[in-house]
Amino acid sequence: MSAPDMATAASQQIVLGRHDELKKRQRMVIDVDGTGIGIYFVGEEVRAYLNICPHMGGPVCQGKIMPRTLELVADNGKSLGLGFSKEQLHIVCPWHGYEFDMLTGRHPIDPKVGLTPVPVQVTDGNVVVTVGSPRA
Ligand code: FES
Repeated sequence: MSAPDMATAASQQIVLGRHDELKKRQRMVIDVDGTGIGIYFVGEEVRAYLNICPHMGGPVCQGKIMPRTLELVADNGKSLGLGFSKEQLHIVCPWHGYEFDMLTGRHPIDPKVGLTPVPVQVTDGNVVVTVGSPRA
């Protein structure tokens, strides 16, 4: 989506559309004056991050969305192999595979590493992202 496709509610607030419709797609990546922003929909929650990976600047928001991989452990401590979380979704950067929690934007192992959040909210049923000037 390019800036002309979006309705601008205020100088830095951009109305992306109706939440009920947008949340069906799970993710959208927009460009606002050259700044890429990924918008993520998790149930009724909405998150937005700059499309810049903290590792080496890759287009992280264009990466796959996958359940978090977990090691399954039996009561006796023996590994049962790998499985997938039923609650946590990760954004996987397409360049080197760094993963980030979709709701928090944080790396699952090192919480000091994370995506840069962009303010987003649902207002009167519309998803509104707020971008800074000149960059989010
Ligand atoms: S640039 Fe994203 S994992 Fe390296």
